[in-house]
Amino acid sequence: MKKQNISVLGIGYVGLCTAVGFASKGYNVIASTHDAEKAAKINNGIPPFHEPSLQKLLKETVQNGRLKCLTNQTEKAVLETDLTFNAVGTPSRPDGSIDLQFIETSTYETGKALKQKNTYHVVVIKSTVVPGTTQDLVKPILEKESKKKCGSAFGLCMNPEFLRQGSAFEDTMHTDRIVIGEYDKKSGDSLENLYKDFYGKNTPPIIRTTLSTAELIKYASNSLLATKISFINTMANLCEKISGADIKTVAKAMGLDKRIGPLFLNAGLGYGGSCFPKDVKALIAHSKNLGYHLELLEAVENVNKTQPLKAVQFCKELLGNLKGKRVAILGLAFKPDTDDMREARVIPIINHLLKEGAKVTAYDPVAVPTAKAIFKNKIQYATSTIECLKNADCCILITEWDEFKKLKPEDFTKNMKQPILIDGRRIYNPEEFSQKMKFTAIGLGH
Ligand SMILES: NC(=O)c1ccc[n+]([C@@H]2O[C@H](COP(=O)([O-])OP(=O)(O)OC[C@H]3O[C@@H](n4cnc5c(N)ncnc54)[C@H](O)[C@@H]3O)[C@@H](O)[C@H]2O)c1
Repeated sequence: MKKQNISVLGIGYVGLCTAVGFASKGYNVIASTHDAEKAAKINNGIPPFHEPSLQKLLKETVQNGRLKCLTNQTEKAVLETDLTFNAVGTPSRPDGSIDLQFIETSTYETGKALKQKNTYHVVVIKSTVVPGTTQDLVKPILEKESKKKCGSAFGLCMNPEFLRQGSAFEDTMHTDRIVIGEYDKKSGDSLENLYKDFYGKNTPPIIRTTLSTAELIKYASNSLLATKISFINTMANLCEKISGADIKTVAKAMGLDKRIGPLFLNAGLGYGGSCFPKDVKALIAHSKNLGYHLELLEAVENVNKTQPLKAVQFCKELLGNLKGKRVAILGLAFKPDTDDMREARVIPIINHLLKEGAKVTAYDPVAVPTAKAIFKNKIQYATSTIECLKNADCCILITEWDEFKKLKPEDFTKNMKQPILIDGRRIYNPEEFSQKMKFTAIGLGH
């Protein structure tokens, strides 16, 4: 069977992993973006962001001609292909509700291309969009611009993405499940057949459902994961009030219960990134519009807002007045293996430290260039862990990169002015570290 030609709109984490994934399996893929600089990088085989294991296949697929990236040519991309994945960004508005402007413009452009096509084409929304968006916003724009009927001249699906930054490409190639929201059976069949061809005998379970159920599955999944994190963080805060209690052991024992599971129970400074914060906020706002108050998720959000400030509180407890004190920050990215700092918990932490008059020096294995765009010359940047620790009065461990896990108490005691460590992600052994230095950690009772 001839492989379908695929177009991908938006070339962020989701779009690029989808594009490289299909190209690596022998499909011809045309990606389209509005960002000329990004497109140039991609066409030279260079990922525009740090994502392990994407580099090799991106280079290969660009070199063998399976993947190319166009700038501002959505219509051409759609016209020359059989199926379009729309993976453009869906950021938050200042009030937390979803901003659908990129979905609107890319759908408008897709519709204009469909007008010129005389073969069946399937449009697949992969971006995270609030329930109702595909049916009530995307479909009418496509029909109006193409002057064609959805369900006959073209198909429409909603196919949420579940990849995690840091392992985005592996997740694309080995997903736990595929969710296909379909406008009609023919659209759903086309996408199911495409995925069966893509994954072959390793095709994961496929859930076929309505457009709005598919949209909600994505929000419900991210909201539950965010809830687990805020839940364990509240238990951690409680542990700190209980003599001898330790959240790590609490979480380990809880996680062994099959009904609970061990993942997303690491107490810390809260969740960040481009998804959980914006998706939880968007669902709260959407639900409010529908007349339902999502109290539980509001609490999840509030816990996440105050949690990073615990790092500053610990700092003040251990150092007193922070004015003029040098604080070393280990980790800037919102999680390890990425250079993304969108909604990273380190941002409010550094802002508060600066407000208290502290001098901040930060180090991250890959995210320093991202941080420079945010903090400019308000903080200092180190090129190694040791340089970051030199002469510091206090260190806050923020991102659990592997290289930080290898540090020994001596690395801190030999280099810092005052060996004080705040473990914001629970990666160090409290018994070992507290013998050699002033040590405190999230969720540790005293
Ligand atoms: N990043 C993740 O871990 C992840 C995981 C699952 C789902 N999602 C969802 O997938 C979507 C994309 O997220 P991301 O992190 O990959 O995005 P991103 O923000 O990294 O990139 C989005 C891209 O869309 C491009 N774009 C905007 N308008 C366009 C248009 N009209 N035509 C072509 N390109 C256009 C932008 O230039 C940008 O490169 C979002 O809805 C997000 O919530 C993200």
